[in-house]
Amino acid sequence: MRHYPSALAAAFVLCAAPAFADYQQDALCVTGAAELCATLPSDMPNLDVPLGYTPTTNLETEDGVQQQNFDYFGWQSFVALNWPADASGAPMGSILDDPDAPRVWESYLGIDAVFPQANLVADDAEAACTPQGRMVLAQTSKLTSSSFIEPFTASPLIDVDGNFVMYDIRMNPVEVGYLRDNGLTTQAGQKAFAAANPQGWDLPRGLTGSPGAMELKTAWRVLADDSNPMGYFTLPATLMIGAENSATGQPLCLEVTVGLVGMHIMHKITNPTAFSDNWVWATFEHIRNAPDAAGAAPSQKNTAATVSGLEPYPPVGSCPVPQDAGTGWAFFDASCADAQGACTPNIGLELKNYLWEPDMPYAEKYLTQSGAGTQVTRCWEVYESAKNVDKVFQDALAGSVWANYQLIGVQWANGGLDHPDPLRPFPAPIYMVNSTLETFLQDVPVVHPDGTLNRGGSSSCINCHDIATDKGGNRSDFSFLGGYAK
Ligand code: HEC
Repeated sequence: MRHYPSALAAAFVLCAAPAFADYQQDALCVTGAAELCATLPSDMPNLDVPLGYTPTTNLETEDGVQQQNFDYFGWQSFVALNWPADASGAPMGSILDDPDAPRVWESYLGIDAVFPQANLVADDAEAACTPQGRMVLAQTSKLTSSSFIEPFTASPLIDVDGNFVMYDIRMNPVEVGYLRDNGLTTQAGQKAFAAANPQGWDLPRGLTGSPGAMELKTAWRVLADDSNPMGYFTLPATLMIGAENSATGQPLCLEVTVGLVGMHIMHKITNPTAFSDNWVWATFEHIRNAPDAAGAAPSQKNTAATVSGLEPYPPVGSCPVPQDAGTGWAFFDASCADAQGACTPNIGLELKNYLWEPDMPYAEKYLTQSGAGTQVTRCWEVYESAKNVDKVFQDALAGSVWANYQLIGVQWANGGLDHPDPLRPFPAPIYMVNSTLETFLQDVPVVHPDGTLNRGGSSSCINCHDIATDKGGNRSDFSFLGGYAK
């Protein structure tokens, strides 16, 4: 078996003397300290990932143990990004205290701040609102037509209280620097860049102590009041809805408390070099979002989902409601009944516009006959290693709202999607989705019936983002952000 130590990492150690030498795969803090910390992991040097390693999350195999490294990387990232921060975004205090403080990621810029003409907030809402909230969540985005509509679907996600889920996207300063320095925030700039760089974008990679490009996408539910019985991380937000999507015909400025239900974290790192072209993809959810579907299995554990068994699992349109899901879910109502089929799990409504009521429930028009919102089940069970690492971090975070979040998984690709061995271009785990961010696309086969990869639109972070290009069609390094340029 050949191993690929990283020359780059070695060079870095010689010239920059980072604060810590080895990537610690089993510590609460990336420095190796046995306590939670605000240090962001930004590379995985000294991690022995052999090329040809078969991605698996099965801990009974040696390869499966590798996955645990990524799961620690994911949790360490989640903790560092959600650490309380001062006005400049510098971490302060402890994640165990100060639930009302802004978080490190809140200092990262959003779409509107980076893409000058993205115009996420409808003009009429902008004119009508003076936002009081710490975060503005806007209805309209030009890429997906609405920021509350999930990618590649025309459907919003509606919670059990009848409110729309809203989304927010951020970039870290390294990514913003690359986009601005290369003129990638406008269409004209992208065109000039493509002429000089037809191979596409190449966002910066992290090294120990210096982060690479990062992109975050978060999902938020509107809370009925401030009592927060589910134990979310909450913050005050202003929802800005243009007249086009308002039931009253007037723009809406809604001052609300929102609770974090989902978080995607993409980070481009340097080592191990065999897969770092493909970024590291971590995704988190609140533990009370949705129950596992009947028969849900971790994607690698289900023989039909393995590399050799090319049959897609689960069959598209399944992920059936479990018998014993119980109550207390944000996106699942066991008593849901609807003759129109609106209680079939993970099916969204498809309309051009969704009209907001001026008062809660904002999505009242779209509730089922029994008054429920979107019926969601999780198609894939959280795999064993993620469950183990969840327990470690949830114990350490006990007493704070952060103990109510779980890592769904961390996806990475060994050898990349263009790996010459036809059985190797698979990410691990093969299927990886978040039930609040890819609700309606959890079970789209990653492999076509003829055995070729389904590039784009399938239920895998890496495979779906693989088709991303900028506005001119130049490959944009798995990032869809280029689409916001005008
Ligand atoms: C079915 C396709 C699909 C899947 C699967 C998918 N995404 Fe995305 N993702 C998109 C699209 C399309 C956008 C752009 C949507 C927008 O801007 O509103 C996006 C946006 C994002 C963003 C915001 C930055 C950007 O590049 O636009 C992040 C971060 C992200 N996704 C992470 C993930 C992670 C992590 C996973 C896996 C757990 C994942 N995605 C799975 C299609 C997908």
